[in-house]
Amino acid sequence: MILTNFVSGLLLSSCALAAPSSPSISRRAASALPFSTKGRDIIDSNGDVFHFISTNWPGHQEIMIPEGLQHSSIKDIVAWFPKFGLNSVRLTFAIEMIDDIYSNNPNQTLEKSVINALGHSNGTKVLSQILEKNPQFNKNTTRLQIWNAVGKELSHQGVYIHLDNHVSKAFWCCGDDDGNGWFGEKYFDVENWKRGLAWMAKHAKENWPTFSSVGLRNELRNAKVAEPVDWYTWYTHMTAAADAVHKADPDALIFFSGLSYDTYIDPIPLGKTLNGTTGTASSGRTAEFEPSKLAYKDKIVLEIHKYDFEATQDDCETFKSKWYQKGFQAVNPKDPNTKYIFPMVISEWGFIQNGTYWNQTTYARCLIEMVKEYQVSWMHWELSGSFYLQTRPGRTPQTLQGLEEAWGLLDYNWDAIRSPITLENSLYKMRDALN
Ligand SMILES: *[C@@H]1O[C@H](CO)[C@@H](O)[C@H](O)[C@H]1NC(C)=O
Ligand SMILES: *[C@@H]1O[C@H](CO)[C@@H](O)[C@H](O)[C@H]1NC(C)=O
Ligand SMILES: *[C@@H]1O[C@H](CO)[C@@H](O)[C@H](O)[C@H]1NC(C)=O
Ligand SMILES: *[C@@H]1O[C@H](CO)[C@@H](O)[C@H](O)[C@H]1NC(C)=O
Ligand SMILES: *[C@@H]1O[C@H](CO)[C@@H](O)[C@H](O)[C@H]1NC(C)=O
Ligand SMILES: *[C@@H]1O[C@H](CO)[C@@H](O)[C@H](O)[C@H]1NC(C)=O
Repeated sequence: MILTNFVSGLLLSSCALAAPSSPSISRRAASALPFSTKGRDIIDSNGDVFHFISTNWPGHQEIMIPEGLQHSSIKDIVAWFPKFGLNSVRLTFAIEMIDDIYSNNPNQTLEKSVINALGHSNGTKVLSQILEKNPQFNKNTTRLQIWNAVGKELSHQGVYIHLDNHVSKAFWCCGDDDGNGWFGEKYFDVENWKRGLAWMAKHAKENWPTFSSVGLRNELRNAKVAEPVDWYTWYTHMTAAADAVHKADPDALIFFSGLSYDTYIDPIPLGKTLNGTTGTASSGRTAEFEPSKLAYKDKIVLEIHKYDFEATQDDCETFKSKWYQKGFQAVNPKDPNTKYIFPMVISEWGFIQNGTYWNQTTYARCLIEMVKEYQVSWMHWELSGSFYLQTRPGRTPQTLQGLEEAWGLLDYNWDAIRSPITLENSLYKMRDALN
């Protein structure tokens, strides 16, 4: 079914490339919304199973606009999605962007955003490159106007928009104790976060016809100075944030991520008691994530990340059984330990696109097997061939401008595929693994 959609989508999109306006694709995509959940599946408005087949397009770093606009027009970047056979995007944003809207901060223009991030000399140069590639903008265009242009073009080309709250303060995610990791940490103000999520959900619903869903927070992780790091605290804030999103847009799917950089979420499908931490403010507190009691019970999706950082030569049976334990019980009603069923999305996976890595470990191959076996949506990390800049606490130098992204699907200049053989052996097989 998805395959059928995908093939006709490709045919339509090649016509669309010839004739730039494509109202039929855009209308058809929007008419399958809203999505909701039914047991282990995401279904569209016709009741058909839908899988997100996506890559990430970051927009959460310092400049707070989607990456790549100094190399390519928004229209040409978006055109890569149908070319890759992707039906959706995970578009990442920072809460700081919405805080600036609320405070009416004068630094929201393109000119100020770029120069504040890159300095006067490089900033002026990159600004003129952005304006050359995207002449519909000028230096006074605001970040939000740029996001609107991106959201409208994605909708126009029939690409579903999943908005992911990646960070609070706008810079590269994620490091230990970087201030963005856990509720109440240095930059992670819980009230501003909920306000920002609700604002974005409402704005996207009102302006971008293919907007489908929101990820509440990317890669929650331990923090030394923050609220207690435990599942009870997770429950309290995640359900409050989901309420805020659901009020702002009752149609949106809501993605819940797990702990430790979103590497596990099994306590939720297993229906475990969610405990506080002895000796802290959450001591003795407990909760249970019981979907039937939540207003948005048919909108809940679980998300999990998987990178190739350990046990890189596991055979696929071992790989799959270890990973299954981290939360895939959610999509397996036959597992006697599963208490609550939810759809699951692999919302980040990826590796260096250098032509050989895909076959140096078992990761790429086993991931394909996992998707084939469990039929879950996925979102590759990532589209960008390079970044405006990247600040990574703990690295020397901490900030690099014009950094190459060797994991990106596109090359440095965003005008070609970085590694066709890698795509043949990973992204395209991940796509074909969904039937
Ligand atoms: C705007 O940016 C300038 C630096 O160019 C900074 O000094 C100023 O504090 C910023 N204003 C606000 C309200 O953040
Ligand atoms: C940008 O805004 C400034 C101040 O309002 C104005 O003087 C200038 O003409 C504007 N430039 C463009 C290109 O719109
Ligand atoms: C919470 O504590 C109970 C009792 O010790 C335990 O059975 C349960 O597994 C704990 N929950 C989690 C998510 O670890
Ligand atoms: C690709 O990256 C891997 C991991 O860093 C490395 O071992 C391998 O030599 C690289 N391949 C090429 C062609 O550079
Ligand atoms: C992939 O790696 C395996 C084992 O290292 C090797 O046998 C196989 O020939 C490689 N395949 C390709 C296409 O390079
Ligand atoms: C300015 O940009 C160039 C090219 O992207 C980069 O090599 C250089 O380090 C940048 N300057 C600063 C101060 O970061």
